[in-house]
Amino acid sequence: MRVLVIGSGAREHALCVALSSDPGVSALACAPGNAGTRAIAEPLALDVADADAVAAVATAWRADLVVIGPEVPLVHGAADAVRDAGIACFGPSQQAAQLEGSKSFAKHVMDAAGVPTARAWPVGGPAELETVLDEVGAPFVVKDDGLAAGKGVLVTDDRDAASAHGRRILDAGGAVLVEEYLDGPEVSLFAITDGTTVLPLVPAQDHKRRDDGDGGPNTGGMGAYAPLPWAPPGLVEEVLETVLQPTVDEMERRGETFSGLLYAGLALTSRGVRVVEFNARFGDPETQVVLPLLETPLAGLLHAAATGTLAEHPPLRWREGAAVTVVVAAPGYPEAPRTGSPVTGGDGEGVLHAGTAVAADGSVVSAGGRVLSVVGLGPDLAAARQAAYERVAAVRLADAHWRTDIAMAAVEGRISPP
Ligand code: AMP
Ligand code: GLY
Repeated sequence: MRVLVIGSGAREHALCVALSSDPGVSALACAPGNAGTRAIAEPLALDVADADAVAAVATAWRADLVVIGPEVPLVHGAADAVRDAGIACFGPSQQAAQLEGSKSFAKHVMDAAGVPTARAWPVGGPAELETVLDEVGAPFVVKDDGLAAGKGVLVTDDRDAASAHGRRILDAGGAVLVEEYLDGPEVSLFAITDGTTVLPLVPAQDHKRRDDGDGGPNTGGMGAYAPLPWAPPGLVEEVLETVLQPTVDEMERRGETFSGLLYAGLALTSRGVRVVEFNARFGDPETQVVLPLLETPLAGLLHAAATGTLAEHPPLRWREGAAVTVVVAAPGYPEAPRTGSPVTGGDGEGVLHAGTAVAADGSVVSAGGRVLSVVGLGPDLAAARQAAYERVAAVRLADAHWRTDIAMAAVEGRISPP
């Protein structure tokens, strides 16, 4: 099987690593890829936001399966274009990707499917914003309704900051949602689906804030670990029954079949499990810790989802042990990352590339906010954490920033779901 991965982050590098170890894969390409993926996957130039270009690259390269990593091509209809070209595609249609692309669409689907989530108030203008903030009270959760790469949400006790954030989104022509605040630890649970059958993966936890101790702004994700030693028994089954399956069924009922990866961002609140958000693709950086634990060959699994044959797929097999990833970010991330700096020490095992590029002289330079995602594996979370940080210590990137406390609260037993 010739497999083409679309995207250029550490998630795509992790997908390429897992796909390249599947004996069913005869050729692997990554478009556009980064300085790390090119060691294992043929790089192909591509503007991922151009759906027709995605289909054209897949056709020209004679792909048997296209795996779409990021949300941007999905919401631009890349999966539809690839399928229209007669090629199997892992990723939802443009319509179905609205589960991620529009938070208000996701809320409608969850309402109809009886899926537990935060109450939300769509805000039409600045005056309504003030009224809603007064009504809902602190802590305030103010969101951009559209795609914002994980950076459109402000959670704050500061009413003025909440109001300013909402006004900024409105002024830019966006739509705003104010939400009920959800307490409790967060879980990222991924499920592979062909639109009918749903196979959950192991739960992971992301660290979304930039700084140690969950300080600083929200980012795309600064690190992650899996599995979750503190997860209540039966959590995956409960989420499958109350969230994942009902959502997939409701999408099918609407005639907007969702196939690909359904990512449920969950909060384990004092009042039960609640959905914080859906994403329509693998999470980054959680993928970097989930895939190393998956023993089942990945290409066969994604191909089954893409071709509607998941019901016949054997049950997933998992490795013992744990995985931790630490994101090495450029100075200035997330607001204004500085790019173009040399990156060295980033070629060892477990070092996944994100925002990297190959300079004219063949050296590796930073080319994005999240530069590397360094993964450690071990028999337990403490060992995996140590392995990850040992690898981070070997990386050289001027003024790089990373959190030093990824997975620490879990290792120290400080996370207790209600
Ligand atoms: P989102 O872009 O919706 O995933 O939100 C990004 C992050 O903001 C989440 O991972 C949470 O940490 C936080 N967040 C979003 N919605 C809520 C909410 N209703 N209550 C508390 N925190 C939230
Ligand atoms: N880890 C958060 C995301 O992928 O959206």
